[in-house]
Amino acid sequence: MTSRARIGWFSLALAASLCQAVFAASGQSTSAGAGMYTAAQADRGKAVYEQSCASCHGASLRGGANEFAAPALAGPFFFEKWSGRPLGTLLAYAAENMPPDARLAPEVYVDVMAYVLQVWKYPAGATELSADSAVLKRPIQAAP
Ligand code: HEC
Repeated sequence: MTSRARIGWFSLALAASLCQAVFAASGQSTSAGAGMYTAAQADRGKAVYEQSCASCHGASLRGGANEFAAPALAGPFFFEKWSGRPLGTLLAYAAENMPPDARLAPEVYVDVMAYVLQVWKYPAGATELSADSAVLKRPIQAAP
């Protein structure tokens, strides 16, 4: 590599990391959910997810873990299908239909939703998600 090209790459990398820093600093105000759930709640939800959902939807929420061909709950195909629909619609679907052969306690689904938000890389905050949180009216979107 010529030294000129090397300087070019260096400034590119510098610009990229500056951009990242700016995004990180503004992260709390992005519309993709500023602290809709707490980290502790996501931990609880993760335990439920692993016990009651992962066998079909996969450990990393990418779906298709077994013969039930469960859809992904994260990743590009998921967002293609769900972007723009309210978060509450996804929560309600899960609470009313999942897992297919059983119903869990209603409050448990909110915890699972918190875990799903964490996997989507929405930032955790100081307030727990609850079934009547106004944030559930927000449209689903991939985190920036
Ligand atoms: C036995 C396998 C199985 C288990 C366990 C399971 N699911 Fe599902 N899930 C499915 C299948 C299959 C579908 C697709 C249903 C359909 O299209 O009618 C689905 C669909 C969904 C959807 C809708 C996704 C979409 O894009 O339409 C959500 C949300 C969901 N499941 C959440 C959960 C949650 C949360 C749990 C754990 C509490 C769970 N599921 C447990 C098999 C499962």
